Amino acid sequence: MILITGGTGYIGSHTVCELLKLGKEVLIIDNLYNSKIEVLGNIERITGKTPKFILCDLCNADIVNKIFEENDIESVIHFAGLKAVGESVSMPLYYYENNIYGTLNLLNAMKKHNVKKLVFSSSATVYGMTNKAPFKEDMPTSATNPYGRTKLFIEHILNDLYVSDDSWNIVILRYFNPVGADESGLIGENPNGMPNNIMPIISKTAAGEIERMFVFGDDYNTADGSCIRDFIHITDLAMGHVKALELLENGKCEVNTINLGTGNGYSVFELIKAFEKASGRKIQYSVGPRRTGDVPITFADATLAKEKLGWSAKYGIEKICEDAWRWQLNCLKNK
Ligand code: UD1
Repeated sequence: MILITGGTGYIGSHTVCELLKLGKEVLIIDNLYNSKIEVLGNIERITGKTPKFILCDLCNADIVNKIFEENDIESVIHFAGLKAVGESVSMPLYYYENNIYGTLNLLNAMKKHNVKKLVFSSSATVYGMTNKAPFKEDMPTSATNPYGRTKLFIEHILNDLYVSDDSWNIVILRYFNPVGADESGLIGENPNGMPNNIMPIISKTAAGEIERMFVFGDDYNTADGSCIRDFIHITDLAMGHVKALELLENGKCEVNTINLGTGNGYSVFELIKAFEKASGRKIQYSVGPRRTGDVPITFADATLAKEKLGWSAKYGIEKICEDAWRWQLNCLKNK
């Protein structure tokens, strides 16, 4: 079976659905810090299958080991981790403990039980502030905040691990901007508390939960002055993981670092317009100052994913916005 850490979270739950639809056996572990147990019922409604679930924090090494002892785990997709940039700046130790220590516990348990196939959730944040888009996997990496540094450190740890023992087979996936929701409208991004990322903020503004949103800067050197991002539909991203697992199952041992993005950039204004069209609602926004640390233009060079995984994104921003809106409406209904 495939162990999915953070499997009730936003990216994890969508990946679990795609794996279950393909008849794979999965075991989810999650501490429910940033997700809800109800996700499991919705995964079941989408796929007709009940995923196995264990409530577990990766920081508890004994429980993690026990899970490997008691289950026949062949490979791991490691999503679990804290991911709010601002929070990471105010609580660095908490971020390092959760993300780094949690990962070390996982890797130690994998090593002990001879499970050496791993897909790791990294981020385009590791391309830092100085590279120019499109971002390619062999560009120099850096980080500007503790969250980004945890991703970068873990990438280094995985590379070091492979150097020490080349029977490991690892895929590091660098995500661009995952957005949208499963087309059923039953699962999606639902951060606890105030969202930080653009899509949940746009959805909640369209729904009237947020009165007015801010576009952080319209004076960038881009066609309309707002930042440009590579928005990738969450189901496309989930399928990238399915393909990464296939590579692990069939491929020779190594560490593959691969971007998951569409290769196209859209501006913040373009995304707002697309969402207005999909929802039929007017989004109330004002232009505010730039957000510290924002990179003006990020999008992927998606060539390697195509070559190594035979994967490319299928969906564009119209479907992203339609699916995000269906999810938002469902959330409102269930409030
Ligand atoms: C952010 C993180 C990044 C992380 C990624 C995925 C920062 C600086 N970067 O990326 O490390 O890997 O999320 O979790 O936080 N925007 C607005 N108004 C808003 C919110 C966002 O205009 O209310 C703009 C931002 O300025 C940015 C774009 O929307 O230009 C996308 O923002 P966001 O969704 O936070 O993603 P990133 O900044 O790309």
